Order: sequence, then structure tokens, then C-alpha cells
Amino acid sequence: MAKSKVLVVGGTGYIGKRIVKASLAQGHITYVLQRREMGLDIDKIQMLLSFKKQGARLIQGSFSDHQSLVDAVKQVDVVICTMSGVHFRSHNILLQLKLVDAIKEAGNIKRFIPSEFGTDPSRMGHALEPGRVTFDEKMRVRRAIEDAKIPFTYVTANCFAGYFAANLSQMETLLPPRDKVTIYGDGNVKVVYMDEDDIASYTIKTIDDPRTLNKTLNIRPPENILSQRELVEKWEKLIGKELQKISLSQEDFLASMKGLDFASQVGVGHFYHFFYEGCLTNFKIGEEGEEASELYPDVKYTRMDEYLKIYL
Ligand SMILES: NC(=O)c1ccc[n+]([C@@H]2O[C@H](COP(=O)([O-])OP(=O)(O)OC[C@H]3O[C@@H](n4cnc5c(N)ncnc54)[C@H](OP(=O)(O)O)[C@@H]3O)[C@@H](O)[C@H]2O)c1
Repeated sequence: MAKSKVLVVGGTGYIGKRIVKASLAQGHITYVLQRREMGLDIDKIQMLLSFKKQGARLIQGSFSDHQSLVDAVKQVDVVICTMSGVHFRSHNILLQLKLVDAIKEAGNIKRFIPSEFGTDPSRMGHALEPGRVTFDEKMRVRRAIEDAKIPFTYVTANCFAGYFAANLSQMETLLPPRDKVTIYGDGNVKVVYMDEDDIASYTIKTIDDPRTLNKTLNIRPPENILSQRELVEKWEKLIGKELQKISLSQEDFLASMKGLDFASQVGVGHFYHFFYEGCLTNFKIGEEGEEASELYPDVKYTRMDEYLKIYL
């Protein structure tokens, strides 16, 4: 079977650039949307040109030009959207509704992967304000996709290692502490830490796979299901030193939300669900989903002790 042609929308973004790389590496003809609004952003333009050097095809388009999106979508079989969705960077999840309209009109897409790559939003109906906005908006996009009968795969990627493992899950830093570390509650709640390049590899693996059609791909490989304490232990082993551990109760953690700016409040809410409630691991993957490492055992996913070595 010929490999699907892929369009990446949001290709210069944090996860988007890895998706472009993985798509090329797995032999897909890969298009990347070049938005006219990139204007004078030299870093984005240079990144697009580097994709082109690696074999990608650039395709002009804009979210304010519906026909340009339809034309772009018509070139390919699969669309992967990596639209921004982190409040302290920028959050434009609902813009995807325009892409959904274009995919519906084009009528040729065999698989659409919307910008999720985090927590399964269908399990977050109870999420705290204001962080629930992320899940609510991702659910609105899901409903639009399903109403338009567009074939899809939703990718639940859990915790990006760059944001959650590198810093031993501390907020407000992206680097690992060397003296003391805040532990959420008893630190024994299991989360899932994933190297972003592995997320991209699994995402591309799924696009031509009938087993993931209209399903959720949960990226939850067994050796990366770790508690915060287990992650800290890995780092302690690497640096040969025990860190001072300061346990933070659920009440104190939630109280810390007061007075913070909106983006930080969103962050606290998400951390609460991951590290106190255990929302990433407190369920079995059912009929609606598949686990990535079970489907694709050939992907040698990065273990977190290996991942952390670069921070030494
Ligand atoms: N699980 C986790 O730990 C985790 C962590 C971070 C993010 N995520 C999720 O991953 C997804 C992508 O996030 P990200 O951090 O990779 O995003 P990002 O780098 O902040 O942005 C991705 C892309 O969104 C596009 N974009 C932004 N504003 C736009 C606008 N106004 N109009 C059109 N396009 C716009 C840009 O695409 P161009 O390339 O076209 O300029 C940008 O490169 C989100 O769903 C987010 O929630 C998950």
C-alpha cells in the first residue's frame, strides 16, 4: 500500500516540527502549511526552508482564507494539526474549526489528527476552572470532526518530557533541580513521561493503520509510567546525590492558584489533575482506544533516565 501523503498544519511549532521530521523519516510525502501571516518571522521561514531541504513541500495558505485551506487539504490524504495549545505560549485550539470546515469541503481526507497530544479531553469533564478550557475546546473540535464524519485519530500523548520530566515536574523551570525538589502529595501517583520525538514517531505510525481509525491512540508505554518520586530517583542516581524533598499537600497546592495570572492558573489546574488525581493513569484503555507501544513495539521509546542524561 502506498504511504499516505501528509499535510502538517502548525509545522514550525514545538511538537509540529517533530511531526514533520517523523513524517519525512517514515517516508511520507510531507507538505507543511506556510502561512502568509508568518510575515517577517525569520525563524519560521528558515525552519520551513530547512524542512524543504529535507524533502518537505511547502504549501501556501492562511486561516483567514478558507479556499487556500481547502486547496492545501486537497493535495494530501492525511492532515495533522499541531495548533498551539499552551496558555503561556499561545492557545488557538478553536481555530481548528476552520480547518475542519476545509477538510469537510475537500472531502478527500482519510485521516485527520487534530491538535491534542496531551490528556484525553473526553475524560476531563470534571476538570477545574480555568484549566478546563483546554479540554473543553479540544472536545468542541472533536464534536465538529465527528459531526462532519471526518475519519480521525486522537493522540493522547500524556506529559511532554521537555515540560514535565526535565524539571522533575517543577513548575516555573525547565531544568532539573540539584538541591531540593517539591513533591506533589506523597509523590506516588503515576503519570506518563514521553520524549516528544517518540510522540511524533508514534503519531506518524498511526496514520495508515486501520486499527487506529476513529480511535484514540494513548501513548502510555509501560516503562514510562512513573511516579514523580520514581523520576526524582532516576535523576538522583544520575547526579549521585539525594535531593531534599518538600511535600506539598493538595490543599496548599490548589490554594497557590489564588492571585496567579490566567496562564499559571491553567497550569496549576493541569498539574493537580496529573499529579494528585492521577488522571493520566487512573483508567484502563477501553474499546475506544489503543496503546501505542503495544501497537508499535518496533519504536524503541526513550526511557527517562536516558532522557535526563542531557541535563547533567
Ligand atoms: N502533553 C503535553 O505535555 C503538551 C505540552 C505542550 C503542548 N501540548 C499540546 O500540543 C499541541 C501543540 O502545542 P505546541 O506547544 O506544540 O504549540 P506551539 O508551538 O505553541 O504552536 C504550534 C503552532 O500553532 C500555529 N499557530 C499559533 N497561532 C496561530 C494562529 N493565530 N493562526 C494560525 N496558526 C497558529 C503555529 O503554526 P505555524 O507553524 O503555521 O506558524 C505554531 O507554530 C497543543 O494541542 C497542546 O495542548 C501538550
